[in-house]
Amino acid sequence: MTPAAGTTPRTTLVRTKAELRTHRAALRGSVALVPTMGALHDGHLALVARARELCDHVILSDFVNPLQFGPGEDYEAYPRDLEADLAAVDGLVDLVFAPSVEEMYPVLPPTVSVTAGAAGTILEGAARPGHFDGVVTVVTKLLQLTTPDVAVFGRKDAQQLAIIQALVADLDLPVRIEPVEIQREPSGLARSSRNVYLSDAGRERALVLSRTLAAARAAAPSNAALRAVLHDALQRAEIDWAYALALDPATLEEIDAAHRGEVLVTLVGRIEGVRLLDAAVVVVTEA
Ligand code: PAF
Repeated sequence: MTPAAGTTPRTTLVRTKAELRTHRAALRGSVALVPTMGALHDGHLALVARARELCDHVILSDFVNPLQFGPGEDYEAYPRDLEADLAAVDGLVDLVFAPSVEEMYPVLPPTVSVTAGAAGTILEGAARPGHFDGVVTVVTKLLQLTTPDVAVFGRKDAQQLAIIQALVADLDLPVRIEPVEIQREPSGLARSSRNVYLSDAGRERALVLSRTLAAARAAAPSNAALRAVLHDALQRAEIDWAYALALDPATLEEIDAAHRGEVLVTLVGRIEGVRLLDAAVVVVTEA
């Protein structure tokens, strides 16, 4: 979306599906979708920047999706500030789609929904039952509503990315999924809307995640050394680990000693009650 010289690009806020369809129909050229739950930070702006590189127009969705939160999770408390979000992307995207819950889901839960299958029941899905079903249902709706050429997702939510790639492949959805690298705060902490819940001490402790990831990167290409780094991190228990795993990126199954090739290192820990994720893909070529 390169604005013509001398003109000011404008961002339009749309609140209803009907408005979205009208504005979408008026866009000429390629379109990228950046799905978000708002509380935009530099990580989201990197997704927007990639979307702008790839397509003529960008639609950003800003919707805290109740379907992907379980009982007792932070749905009510999840940070919401539409004005700040609009200011952050003003002139960078063509449309911000920020529907109400009633607009998005006239019937809640919907009568028909999409399921993420077995991949949605392991790892984050084991800790958050139904979470990935909620994600794939809203992403399917957003893709249907915006009919983009490309949809952009961050690599931090590595399982979400893998499941969305499977969604698009399995349901033959005509869109290309574009993964974007994790954005980090200067300290190394992966950017996340939930970082606002952390105290300064919590942020400091959270660096265990990025430090463990750095050690895992350094240990690759050795399979044994990589797995030892993760094992040792769990043993040290400096934070309340959910898991620190080396996975086959395609199957999301734990790698064994024989594995060679790409490995998804995925780290999840709880600090001050906040579930934090970090991830990287490394390559293992030796024992
Ligand atoms: O990654 C997120 O922010 C959400 O899971 C998504 C993809 C916008 C669906 O609500």
